[in-house]
Amino acid sequence: MIIRLETDADHQAIYALTRDAFAPMSFSDGSEPDIVNQLREDGDLTLSLVADQDGIIGHVAFSPAKISNAEGAWYGLGPISVRADRQRQGLGSKLAHTGLDMLRKLGAAGCVLTGNPDVYRPMGFSNDHALTYSGLNPKYILFISFDGTVPKGEINFAEALEEDHP
Ligand SMILES: CC(C)(COP(=O)(O)OP(=O)(O)OC[C@H]1O[C@@H](n2cnc3c(N)ncnc32)[C@H](O)[C@@H]1OP(=O)(O)O)[C@@H](O)C(=O)NCCC(=O)NCCS
Repeated sequence: MIIRLETDADHQAIYALTRDAFAPMSFSDGSEPDIVNQLREDGDLTLSLVADQDGIIGHVAFSPAKISNAEGAWYGLGPISVRADRQRQGLGSKLAHTGLDMLRKLGAAGCVLTGNPDVYRPMGFSNDHALTYSGLNPKYILFISFDGTVPKGEINFAEALEEDHP
């Protein structure tokens, strides 16, 4: 299994993987595969990483995010998908950490996301209720800071993600 950047040949497989991974999720409105395509079309897909083992078994997208009271370049993580039969074996963490390492090397200040804290806390994300996003319960808003600063304020994700309110 290797983790690598997406190529043009991966777009359809990423779409299908994302669609199938989110399909059973009660919080999903099924928009996630289109969000990945829209991020790409908008030029907002800063990093798109796939886990490849005779086909695409995992994917994560990172895109620019603005935070009203934070300095530096922040990014949003998501959507992230792991094929159902490969979930809970560390692959989501591996994809996230590979992307975070790449963002750190690009000089990013950190990364924010909305999601299940039980999934993202073990990956190193924290939650200190200083970030807000569109009225969402703050326990679902998490961040990881590369320079130790704690981001504060309202998050504005890339446009394609802004239509997705979990
Ligand atoms: C979310 C997802 C990407 C995680 O990938 P994964 O490979 O299963 O995750 P990992 O095995 O790396 O697990 C990371 C941590 O999350 C926890 N976790 C994973 N799935 C979980 C779940 N459904 N509920 C609670 N905790 C979960 C794991 O226990 C692990 O913590 P640990 O290290 O303390 O054991 C994957 O489950 C998935 O594709 N889900 C469907 C799509 C989705 O919900 N995407 C995210 C939306 S916020």
